[in-house]
Amino acid sequence: MAKATPKKKSSPTSNTSFSKKNNGQSKPANDNPSKLEPTNEANIDVMELDPSDGLIKLFTDCLKDIYWAENHLIKALPKMAKATSIKKLQTDILNHLEQTKTHAERLEEVFEFLGKEPQARKCDAMEGLTREGEAVIENTDTGTPARNLGIIMASQKVEHYEISSYMGLIKLAEHLGYTEISEILGETLNEEEDSDALLSEVATSEILNGEKDDGEE
Ligand SMILES: [Fe+2]
Repeated sequence: MAKATPKKKSSPTSNTSFSKKNNGQSKPANDNPSKLEPTNEANIDVMELDPSDGLIKLFTDCLKDIYWAENHLIKALPKMAKATSIKKLQTDILNHLEQTKTHAERLEEVFEFLGKEPQARKCDAMEGLTREGEAVIENTDTGTPARNLGIIMASQKVEHYEISSYMGLIKLAEHLGYTEISEILGETLNEEEDSDALLSEVATSEILNGEKDDGEE
């Protein structure tokens, strides 16, 4: 538990905004930021930050929350994938399951960077959101548009929760001078946004616009 003297560091490279995928600005400058190695300099930065204003605690509490949420999703997503009759949706959900495992690993990297053991704190919101997904499955019949669209809507609620969580964490990381951390979290944010977009797409192409079949793909 490193504690230290009040001193905030604002890195000149920490202005990057990750709030949107706009023109690639959210891409980290390094070659491979997911392979972050804690450096002495980085550790010093963390140690020098003043926890007394509560922002570091807020940041780590939110990390624990989203770490729990990601791990919970790793268990919940296979059920959602299995319950849909739309092949593309199933594939998208399973692809996102793989991404979600990476999201959890990235959070472990962030904990490591902060000099802490990865720790999860139950996220009531995510538990509730995944329960909603389960309720959709219980209350609809297999193969119906209601089942498939219900799964998409429940999945998008999950994505939106994650997107806002990561946006907040990134802003906070930037404020605290955790440049590398904001870059790592930015990668995850991009993937959450992509996943949300794919869900919208599949809802439109496979359900809402009806099977404009006849060969169109
Ligand atoms: Fe995620």
